[in-house]
Amino acid sequence: MNKISNWVKYCLEALPYKNGYVLDLACGKGRHSIYLSNLGYNVLSVDIDEHKLNNFNGKLIKKKVIDVENINNWPLKKKKFDAIVVTNFLNRQIFPLIIRSIKKGGYLIYETFSEGHQKIGRPTNPKYILKPRELLRLSNKMQLVAYENIYINNPSNHLFQQRILAKNV
Ligand SMILES: C[S@@+](CC[C@H](N)C(=O)[O-])C[C@H]1O[C@@H](n2cnc3c(N)ncnc32)[C@H](O)[C@@H]1O
Repeated sequence: MNKISNWVKYCLEALPYKNGYVLDLACGKGRHSIYLSNLGYNVLSVDIDEHKLNNFNGKLIKKKVIDVENINNWPLKKKKFDAIVVTNFLNRQIFPLIIRSIKKGGYLIYETFSEGHQKIGRPTNPKYILKPRELLRLSNKMQLVAYENIYINNPSNHLFQQRILAKNV
């Protein structure tokens, strides 16, 4: 799971800017934070798990232990990002808050588990599994740039995923 997501790579290549302020939300051990920082983006890496955040560093990375599911007091409301990256994390309730934290003209890069995945691996809880086309619905206030609903089947990965690149207009 330390490999950089192909989707994140593809989306970053498509962005019109090669620097800026990017939030890696629920970043885990920081595989994408490190990648972003190496590309020249200023990164805010956020996770609830301090131990995971302690696992990595990067020249342009700032880290914060935050419970992003705290919807009554969204901890990131004073910040606006050029892009937000979310991978393998889902909380439907905070989706509008995530979108609001993206600057006008900024981008959402999102990929997570989709219907079907529960039959082949974890997570199995429907709370963490996107329904068909759900990522499109959750992002429908944004301009769609790219979307995939795919089954990845290779020796290192078996995943059902939805992935989106959307622009805040
Ligand atoms: C499956 S991992 C994905 C990590 C990373 N995005 C990646 O793809 O490598 C999910 C992450 O969400 C974090 N997480 C879960 N609940 C959270 C919350 N309420 N606030 C912030 N992070 C949370 C976990 O600590 C974990 O690192």
